[in-house]
Amino acid sequence: MLNFDFYNPTQIFFGKDRLDNIDKQVPADAKVLITYGGGSAVKSGLIGKVKANLGSRKVFEFGGIEPNPRYETLMKAAEIVRSENIDFILAVGGGSVIDGTKFICLAAHYSGDARDLLKYGFAMITSDVVKKPVPFGTVLTLPATGSEMNCGAVISYEHGKFPVMSALTFPKFSILDPVVTFTLPKIQVANGIVDTFVHTTEQYITYPVDARIQDRMAEGILHTLIEIGVTTVNEPENYDARANLVWSATMALNGLIGAGVPQDWATHMIGHELTAMFGIDHGQTLAIIYPAVLDVMRKQKRAKILQYAERIWNITSGSDDEKIDLTIKKTREFFESLGIKTHLSDYGISADKIPAIVEKLKEHGMTALSETGDVTPDVSREILEKAM
Ligand code: NZQ
Ligand code: ZN
Repeated sequence: MLNFDFYNPTQIFFGKDRLDNIDKQVPADAKVLITYGGGSAVKSGLIGKVKANLGSRKVFEFGGIEPNPRYETLMKAAEIVRSENIDFILAVGGGSVIDGTKFICLAAHYSGDARDLLKYGFAMITSDVVKKPVPFGTVLTLPATGSEMNCGAVISYEHGKFPVMSALTFPKFSILDPVVTFTLPKIQVANGIVDTFVHTTEQYITYPVDARIQDRMAEGILHTLIEIGVTTVNEPENYDARANLVWSATMALNGLIGAGVPQDWATHMIGHELTAMFGIDHGQTLAIIYPAVLDVMRKQKRAKILQYAERIWNITSGSDDEKIDLTIKKTREFFESLGIKTHLSDYGISADKIPAIVEKLKEHGMTALSETGDVTPDVSREILEKAM
């Protein structure tokens, strides 16, 4: 097992009817800004309930944070935080609203040009850089990103998606009520399952370091997703199936399964370019790229793909390459069973677009991806060709 630091201060309130914890967690004298997305949380009545739980506190609202939240939108909210002296933000939404809120918290009192905060990549932004982060909590409406219990965000600016990481942006608390997610369209539920699945595999299918606990937790999440995936897409009000998805999504990216193991993230970084260039949903980009990554990186990942083949898909006979081929097929079929297409061509993207995607990866410094840094632009090209 590799050395690791583990820190996660986010308090979780899981289950039905937990909104009363807002009143207990948000300081009684706080001026609060509620952030939300394009309106689903208003329509469902959730924003009204959140406001009721804030009681007599002075409350401001900022709606309109778009999927793949944009820098310009978030800076408008940061200005409200500054001018109204907001002391606590409550994010009500999915990954985009929560990520956007993390950026607002960092940018609101930042003294320089807030675009600086997009330049750190996976390096942690410290309190030397952001001296006065604004505290925030979340009410999660979409299980997928794990943003409700991690300190990362992905912010869109111009034609790129930029990771922003800081220990200052762990939510103080997150309310995870599976019932709140019942209103999700099927496609968003399916996206969330694929996102959770690939978060798990990108921390599991690398190379062996004898991290048995982390491997078995990852395998537990993958088995759970395979067991409940189709059910929770088709039966949106099946509480138990949805509860298992919600907790899987949180556990897949709260730092626990990734502690002490190598991490890949090539699929995510290539996928981000597909979202930025073609507007494909995050989860769908992963379903396109991940089977191709397994195929192209089969030599480097051999030992862990075979472990995944045996422990997740019960594949035990045939040559190593036959087992890997069948494993990739099973993985692809699982994504397709949820209603998510797995080829670039399914999204109207032809092979002649591949050079431009590779150029964008280079422009964004994504030239040494994977757990060992061996996914060069040439390897990314090969992955994209396999994903056609
Ligand atoms: O905006 P509204 O009207 O609320 O509609 C949203 C949005 O259109 C809708 N929705 C959310 N909850 C709903 C609902 N509709 C009905 N009922 C509900 N309960 O769903 C749509 C998609 O929402 P979004 O927040 O964009 O989806 P998701 O949670 O998948 O977040 C995707 C973003 O997270 C980033 C992605 O790059 C992308 O920008 N990621 C963040 C990560 C992190 N912070 O750790 C890691 C991930 O790998 C990912 O990169
Ligand atoms: Zn993701």
